[in-house]
Amino acid sequence: MRVIEATEAAQTHVRERDTKSVLVPTMGALHRGHLKLIHVAREHAGKDGEVAVSIFVNPLQFEPGSDFEKYPRPEAADEKLCEEAGVNLLFRPRDMYFDDRSVYIEETSLSSGLCGAMRPGHFRGVCTVVAKLFNLLTPDAAVFGEKDYQQLAVIRRMVRDLNFPIEIIGVPTVREADGLALSSRNQYLNADERTQATVLYRAMTRVKELADGGQKSVRELIDAAKGVIASAKSARVDYVAIVDAVNLHSLETLRPNAVIALAVFIGKTRLIDNLRLT
Ligand code: PAF
Repeated sequence: MRVIEATEAAQTHVRERDTKSVLVPTMGALHRGHLKLIHVAREHAGKDGEVAVSIFVNPLQFEPGSDFEKYPRPEAADEKLCEEAGVNLLFRPRDMYFDDRSVYIEETSLSSGLCGAMRPGHFRGVCTVVAKLFNLLTPDAAVFGEKDYQQLAVIRRMVRDLNFPIEIIGVPTVREADGLALSSRNQYLNADERTQATVLYRAMTRVKELADGGQKSVRELIDAAKGVIASAKSARVDYVAIVDAVNLHSLETLRPNAVIALAVFIGKTRLIDNLRLT
């Protein structure tokens, strides 16, 4: 596995590369969810292709006062995991941004609700760093988890609107046995909070049950989700929304192609999840 830490070295590498390349962009603290992304990347790259993983905790996507400083950075463990997973290139840039940077990429429609409404500037940071990674590593395809549903939609839109010649591959969320979606932030939870964190999945599956049973009122469905979440003493709703799967507009009445998306604080840890309802 080749490890590159400088943007110029990455550009030299891609100039000399003559294989298909599939990128898995991450912020590190790798877990089984990332391993699934790497596995899917290998399937798409083929055995002789390049699977590249980028690890960069992107300051631009953390709003002031959030967990940028304490975000886990287990570099040695991440490197070992990548090596064992058969990754060909680990890109861990140390010089990603210029101090006087003044160009950003902003998606202005899909980013406005859900996490975008609660975390101003977040998707501008995500789009800017992902566009930079695409320019630096020029992959043929890139793999993202569906847990970050809005992020995936925003990146697909950026790729479409800015004509990046890159296939975007979405991978279903990997869950623990009790339904909790795998996330690097799960490691912030203490044992009691970890038990309570299943409330996100329980709330979504309750809503799906009601929807499957014929409930069409989004207000009723959201109230039901909030009722389940309220049963966990350390849980605080950031948002619960039922949206159109494509344009992410909030729905009033359930219709085909609906997704429930939610963000819930368990103690101080903000977790997100989503589930297709129809
Ligand atoms: O999903 C993530 O880990 C990050 O948002 C990403 C896509 C690597 C951009 O920093």
